[in-house]
Amino acid sequence: MKGLILSGGTGTRLRPLTYTRAKQLVPVANKPVLFYGLEAILASGIRDIGIIVGDTCREIMEAVGDGTRWGAKITYIQQDAPLGLAHAVLTARDYLKDDSFVMYLGDNLILDGITSLVNEFRNSKANAQILLAKVPNPQQFGVAELDNNTIVRLVEKPADPKSDLALVGVYMFDKSIFSASERIKPSARNELEITDAIQELINMGLKVDPHIVNGWWKDTGKLEDMLEANRMVLDRLKPVNQGEVDDKTVIDHKVVIEEGAVIQRSYLRGPAIIGKNTKIIDSYIGPFTSIQSDSIVRNAEIEHSIVCEHARIEDIGVRIEDSLIGRSVELRKTDVLPKAYRFVLGDRSVVGIL
Ligand code: TTP
Repeated sequence: MKGLILSGGTGTRLRPLTYTRAKQLVPVANKPVLFYGLEAILASGIRDIGIIVGDTCREIMEAVGDGTRWGAKITYIQQDAPLGLAHAVLTARDYLKDDSFVMYLGDNLILDGITSLVNEFRNSKANAQILLAKVPNPQQFGVAELDNNTIVRLVEKPADPKSDLALVGVYMFDKSIFSASERIKPSARNELEITDAIQELINMGLKVDPHIVNGWWKDTGKLEDMLEANRMVLDRLKPVNQGEVDDKTVIDHKVVIEEGAVIQRSYLRGPAIIGKNTKIIDSYIGPFTSIQSDSIVRNAEIEHSIVCEHARIEDIGVRIEDSLIGRSVELRKTDVLPKAYRFVLGDRSVVGIL
């Protein structure tokens, strides 16, 4: 079996971050979300992995490399435009050839891994296996209607959903998905939908097995979901201190402090992670916060947030919460007169001030 990770797309829901970076590289507990999928596929024993890339291809390739570091063979497959998940499958046809494969959406996270699911598919006679999970808002997903554990119908983002079982972003297919993808037409949003291609497999009389997942999974396409993913992963980390922590600092609950980090006169209440070479001085870092590498937090309070690398946050009089702060962002008090807020914000930035 091969792996196929989808890392193209436009990421409109995570703007403005996705104006300048691939959403699959936004860090969850200081690790790009894409790496969780990659590692889950590797854990299932698959070593030959294709990654679909789009406009952000250079950045993805720089972050992942050729796979040697994971003992994997990575092949990059360029998708000229994000014309849908089934379009991505067709784009990967020359790479996948006649092999069965597991397809993983590069912005999804399944905490319990996929090894048992891949094994189940390997041992089955099914042409496809889809994962389903109960969600409170099925209108926003591909939804499956089941009858006695058999799929009756799949509908993409139904206005009036007949079930609360959403398609999770991990799928297993044999080569019949190519002919099914060729037979479908673009949807109203002009994408070749994987939901329609799987429905087509069913229409062709092929076997599609549903598997309901009970563990935690998330499509991290939106800010709230990203923060939730960060919470879930941080909660599972084991505390470790590889940095320098002075004796005026209090560490409460699970905190991971990466190499070269310096913590002085601060209060760190985990679960939290402080990245490599980051400095936390005279600050409070609250639960469910990750601060990536080479950042500085001085005289500030942050909680329930993701801070990307090379950020600088200084002398902020109120607590920062529920925030996603991009790379090299500077957030600090200035003493320059006249007293005023001074912003350099990209398109669609969101700032909440007191
Ligand atoms: P989506 O989150 O469905 O699409 P998107 O990335 O365009 O985001 P948004 O809805 O916010 O605009 O995509 C799921 C994953 O699949 C994501 O990692 C991007 C990837 N993808 C492709 O590789 N090719 C495609 O044609 C599409 C639509 C998505």
